[in-house]
Amino acid sequence: MSHSAANTPDRATASAISHAARVIDSLRPGLHADTALRQYFAYWNRLGPRQKRAISHATFVYFRWLGWLDRKSSPQKRIAAALELQTRFDQNPASIKAEAIAALAVPEWTRDEVTFPAESLRLLQTDPALWLRAQTGAAATLPAQLVDCEPADGTPVPAPTAFRYSGRQDLFLTPQFHNGLFEIQDLASQLVGHACAPKPGQTWWDACAGEGGKTLHLADLMQNKGMLWASDRSFRRIQSLKRRAGRAKVFNYRAAAWDGSAKLPTKTKFDGILLDAPCSGLGTWQRNPHARWTTTPDDVRELAAVQTQLLANIAGSLKPGGRLVYAVCTLTRSETTAIADAFTAAHSDFEPAPAFAASTSDAAQVTIWPHEHNSNGMFIAAWRKK
Ligand SMILES: C[S@@+](CC[C@H](N)C(=O)[O-])C[C@H]1O[C@@H](n2cnc3c(N)ncnc32)[C@H](O)[C@@H]1O
Repeated sequence: MSHSAANTPDRATASAISHAARVIDSLRPGLHADTALRQYFAYWNRLGPRQKRAISHATFVYFRWLGWLDRKSSPQKRIAAALELQTRFDQNPASIKAEAIAALAVPEWTRDEVTFPAESLRLLQTDPALWLRAQTGAAATLPAQLVDCEPADGTPVPAPTAFRYSGRQDLFLTPQFHNGLFEIQDLASQLVGHACAPKPGQTWWDACAGEGGKTLHLADLMQNKGMLWASDRSFRRIQSLKRRAGRAKVFNYRAAAWDGSAKLPTKTKFDGILLDAPCSGLGTWQRNPHARWTTTPDDVRELAAVQTQLLANIAGSLKPGGRLVYAVCTLTRSETTAIADAFTAAHSDFEPAPAFAASTSDAAQVTIWPHEHNSNGMFIAAWRKK
């Protein structure tokens, strides 16, 4: 189905469309839309916050509705058509049929890998929620300070430090952010920390720690008591982790490079290990619609092999009775249930354990669909070492 712009956009929208067309034109394999936007804004440094918001919006909306657009029309016309579709959908979600969304919002290859609930697909066509995680000590006062904060509810286990922010201020500029009282962190990522549920005084390893989003949460749950190892293969990410840890006043951690191989960064035996593995990221497709059209079945296959290898390499570092948590922000069967089932089959010294120990469900594998909590999609599996 194609769609043409029926109305002439106002000047501000027309300007956003023409900037967005240039951003989209600058995309190359390996360059993500959010990085391209950052680079574009660094170059066009006179653009104000409102213009930047409009350009980002037009760019993301374009990729959200790409499946509906007439590939033969000009980029500007396509972006205008996408913005119209978005307005129509936001005003009346029923105006676009579930069958059309199932057929056009995500690429066809995903049907072999994921059965998206219709509500999740609908959510993919809207703006993502902004979640923040307060430090435990700040959770009582932060919402009133920042305003426009709603606590998370209905999660599989309580997430008392998670708040949905719906205000307009740039949170990175607030004194509370600079003082480390909160982090921007998606609710599903916060649920991974609650699935780990580390205890004060324990020793944990965040094996693919990246920039430390989950490391900092684990430290907070441990009341900064005990020891956390944080490793990643990216030096740049570890440097960023160290900066964030300094801001959050987290000091009970050791950061180390680890390339995922059998040569581990430490001989320590841990009470718990989190493997927040590299993945195809389908669970982030609401926030990152460009990736819907750049991710391929080959990526899924290659990442599944990496995930299997990473799990096998870390398994020996758990103490008997220790807890292993596997998390991926994707929803493909190959990277979720297939990985977890294969690990259980190959490791008789591990038994599946409830993913959320504090919940009434004892499911060892949990898929968090985006529509359930207005978050990213996530898969979590847990084991106990016998
Ligand atoms: C899902 S991200 C981690 C996000 C992070 N835990 C957080 O909460 O911010 C996966 C991480 O795995 C790292 N990675 C990718 N391949 C790896 C490998 N073979 N060995 C170790 N780390 C790897 C990436 O650099 C990336 O930071």
